[in-house]
Amino acid sequence: MEERAKEKLSEGGWYYASSNAGMSNTHLANRQAFYRHRLIPNQLIDTNNRSTRTTIFNHKVSAPIGFAPIGINKIYHATGEAAVAKVAKELNLPYCLSTAGSTSIEEVAAANGPSGTRFFQLYMPHDDELTVSLLTRAWENGFDALILTTDTWQLGWRHDDVASSNYAFYRGFGADLGLTDPVFRKRCVADGIDPDVDVVAASTKWIDSVWHGRAWSWEKIPWLMETWRGISGGRPFVIKGIQSVGDARKCVELGVDGIVVTSYKMKEDVVKHPPCIPWDLSSDYGAQTLSHLLKNTHEKARFDLDAELHGPQRC
Ligand SMILES: Cc1cc2nc3c(=O)[nH]c(=O)nc-3n(C[C@H](O)[C@H](O)[C@H](O)COP(=O)(O)O)c2cc1C
Repeated sequence: MEERAKEKLSEGGWYYASSNAGMSNTHLANRQAFYRHRLIPNQLIDTNNRSTRTTIFNHKVSAPIGFAPIGINKIYHATGEAAVAKVAKELNLPYCLSTAGSTSIEEVAAANGPSGTRFFQLYMPHDDELTVSLLTRAWENGFDALILTTDTWQLGWRHDDVASSNYAFYRGFGADLGLTDPVFRKRCVADGIDPDVDVVAASTKWIDSVWHGRAWSWEKIPWLMETWRGISGGRPFVIKGIQSVGDARKCVELGVDGIVVTSYKMKEDVVKHPPCIPWDLSSDYGAQTLSHLLKNTHEKARFDLDAELHGPQRC
């Protein structure tokens, strides 16, 4: 799959999708950890009727797999996020739209259809009015869980991207959620940018508003959680990017509904608690690996996290 992607994609698309940070050490370590998993099957279990169906946030889906939020899909194909959201619906799997998507919230909702299961991933702007506007649009368009990404305040040092100045946001891609947002458009006008004319300036402003180098801390989480629950009538709030047990525990204490455990772009197993789900159809796992994930990582990850959070007796 990787080879075919490399043949098909533009150089920029390939670099953005495939590069790892630094010396790729985490990528390698994650892969090695993954291949160390072994299965010991129980025999003589009646497996004649099998089903991968499960429920997530009250949605009945075909399998415990979701489409991870992936920004700027239009650098891969002109149909962008709409095509992916359509396929997610056809497979009856949850789709998660990124704040850095290159298709508006409304268009993605239309492609995903009235009965599609869809969640919204937030890079939270340091502008509460803009955050509220995004959440309101997401909710009104059927995105009924909010996933806050916390591990990407800045991109990693990816050599090929850096060497080729491969940053689509500064070339007018990836700002579609902003360009279609009334509050962001107002902010552009206030800065003397006409978002319909100077798309590059508007896109640069967008990604600088939602993403770059300005982290949030735990103090802001209750505000976001309350705001989202107020808008959505109490739908789930999830934090993405959790890697330590201490942080997972903080999420439980604050009343967060789920976590996504991941090291961004490093191809690691991803779980939610509870229950665990592998959360990444978009990575470079093949079908065999994916089924391995379903059978193995699912249980292993739940065991590890539960043991850390509640002690071994809960597992
Ligand atoms: C090209 C690419 C773009 C991504 N864009 C986003 C994004 O916009 N928002 C986000 O929260 N995560 C983004 N991610 C991270 C994924 O959602 C996911 O967490 C990551 O691929 C790690 O999954 P893994 O641990 O299974 O590899 C992106 C990952 C890749 C490879």
